[in-house]
Amino acid sequence: MEASRLLEEAVRELKASPAIDHWQRDREEIEAEDLLAFALGVDRVDPDAPVPASARRRFRRMVARRATGEPVQFIKGYAEFRGLELIAKPGVFVPRESTEFLAEQAIRRLRHRRRAVAVDLATGGGTVALAIANETKGVRVYGTDLSKEAIEVARRNAERSKLRATFVTGDLFEGLPHELAGRIDVITLHPPYVGRGELVELPDEIRKFEPPHTLTDQSEDGLGLIERAAAVSHGWLRKGGWLLIEVSPDRARAVATVMRRAGFRDVRSTKGGEWKITRVIVGRR
Ligand SMILES: C[S@@+](CC[C@H](N)C(=O)[O-])C[C@H]1O[C@@H](n2cnc3c(N)ncnc32)[C@H](O)[C@@H]1O
Repeated sequence: MEASRLLEEAVRELKASPAIDHWQRDREEIEAEDLLAFALGVDRVDPDAPVPASARRRFRRMVARRATGEPVQFIKGYAEFRGLELIAKPGVFVPRESTEFLAEQAIRRLRHRRRAVAVDLATGGGTVALAIANETKGVRVYGTDLSKEAIEVARRNAERSKLRATFVTGDLFEGLPHELAGRIDVITLHPPYVGRGELVELPDEIRKFEPPHTLTDQSEDGLGLIERAAAVSHGWLRKGGWLLIEVSPDRARAVATVMRRAGFRDVRSTKGGEWKITRVIVGRR
């Protein structure tokens, strides 16, 4: 059977799955092709090429897993993020393409600073911290997360990618050297921002496969951690340093208000990423 027919079959199965969020145009086509390339061990699928029986079986098993909502990144074991290959495994938040915009905003602000310091709060598997380390020179990069498991993965990701970044377990800035206070140039944060009561509304592919602490801080409005982070970040930033927070569009205004109240200036909501869905609220000390 040639690849194109196998892909059609897979796309039909993925489109019919109630566990997948079908908001993105062509999502099923892109994912099916990605999985078939993975099953074949190639970069690009030739639609006319016949697919050997063993790869066909592997591919169909992977599509069946995806149809349960399991993220493609778990099936492959890694996530691509701004050219990096990061470990993806249950228990640690899967790096999302949408977060590349947060990394881009940070990198842009760090590139021309000398001896700059960057801190990625709630770093997960080191996603934004490692992108910064990879795309800047001479920046001291730190990442913190409450989850020990996430920090272990972040350290492994740094090692595998041969990048330098310091990862510590702790609540927000806990565990960071005190000498950094007042000296940080850019703080990034992609926090859990779903309200406690909203968890049930999330699609299965998120709710069933991401640990709750990566999605919600258990506050009613999802702003609990953001409010704490904005209040504390002010003192850790150098004057003129930036706080960048990634949220969904429906949270953008509320987060901008939180940042203004915490004393940040030039606060605005920026929109980016391929689907222009990500909002990064930026403000400076
Ligand atoms: C939405 S995930 C983002 C992970 C990563 N920044 C990314 O974009 O891939 C949120 C992360 O916040 C972490 N987290 C939750 N509460 C925290 C806290 N109080 N202090 C530090 N990290 C926290 C979770 O463990 C999780 O890794």
